Amino acid sequence: MDETTMPRRLAGRTAAVTGGGRGIGAVLAHRLAAEGADVAVLDLIDEAPETARRIGEETGATTCAVRCDVTDEAGVDAAFGEVEETLGRPVDVLVTAAGIAHNVDAHEASAADFRRVVDVNLTGTFLCAARVARRLIETDRPGSIVTIASMSGHIVNIPQPQAAYNSSKAGVIMLTKSLALEWIGHGIRVNAVSPGYIATPMTRAVSESDPEMYAEWVRRTPLGRVGTPEDLAPLVAFLASDEAGFLVGSDVLADGGYLLG
Ligand SMILES: NC(=O)c1ccc[n+]([C@@H]2O[C@H](COP(=O)([O-])OP(=O)(O)OC[C@H]3O[C@@H](n4cnc5c(N)ncnc54)[C@H](O)[C@@H]3O)[C@@H](O)[C@H]2O)c1
Repeated sequence: MDETTMPRRLAGRTAAVTGGGRGIGAVLAHRLAAEGADVAVLDLIDEAPETARRIGEETGATTCAVRCDVTDEAGVDAAFGEVEETLGRPVDVLVTAAGIAHNVDAHEASAADFRRVVDVNLTGTFLCAARVARRLIETDRPGSIVTIASMSGHIVNIPQPQAAYNSSKAGVIMLTKSLALEWIGHGIRVNAVSPGYIATPMTRAVSESDPEMYAEWVRRTPLGRVGTPEDLAPLVAFLASDEAGFLVGSDVLADGGYLLG
């Protein structure tokens, strides 16, 4: 879709995307900007400023990048403060795409291995969502939060061993529902998207190092291919917008039919 036919459902909004420096988050940030939002890219990778700059150039939106480790409570607080100062308004659209995966046999995994995945994927989602909601409630504004969970919050992936990842994503789905119920009285909608396999740097590492595992992912996806971040972007923009006004605590699967099999 070119910029002339793109709906502008997010005009006047201030959006932040965690993990927005690359992969799914970067494409979602681009879509929110193309739909009219000012967009902050929150990430800890060095390419985040360049991602934000490129999105601004391609969409004409105001963008910024703020370095943020989503597991660091004080850092999250400071990062969202910086976003508000830079973009001039509190964040009222949040997409939490920061996440990590770690494949390790559960009986060989250390507590640190397990905690790190839960810390980034689940606690990080909580910290960012709570920071945004606190400010919205304080300033009496509505908002929309979209968490990026995973089909791995519903099923155990095959063949990779990733108990911590699957558990963290199941946690994100229940966190989403819990926050949705708590905050809907304040006009803040919280919904989740649960993607199937998506081609990004996270999964490219597997396609390059273990083509057989990658082929198994494709074989198990009824649609016959993995998804792209662009497959998710219109859905996330919709959930972020007022058009999704009746969706509260939903978890939308976008998995090419994987869970049907
Ligand atoms: N790729 C898939 O197949 C797939 C499927 C389902 C869900 N997801 C989820 O989608 C989200 C994005 O994944 P992706 O495939 O684009 O991965 P990716 O590795 O390409 O991008 C993840 C981004 O998160 C950032 N990040 C990691 N830890 C962070 C931290 N502590 N603080 C801030 N940023 C941090 C990384 O720097 C990176 O830019 C993740 O939550 C992932 O679990 C991915």
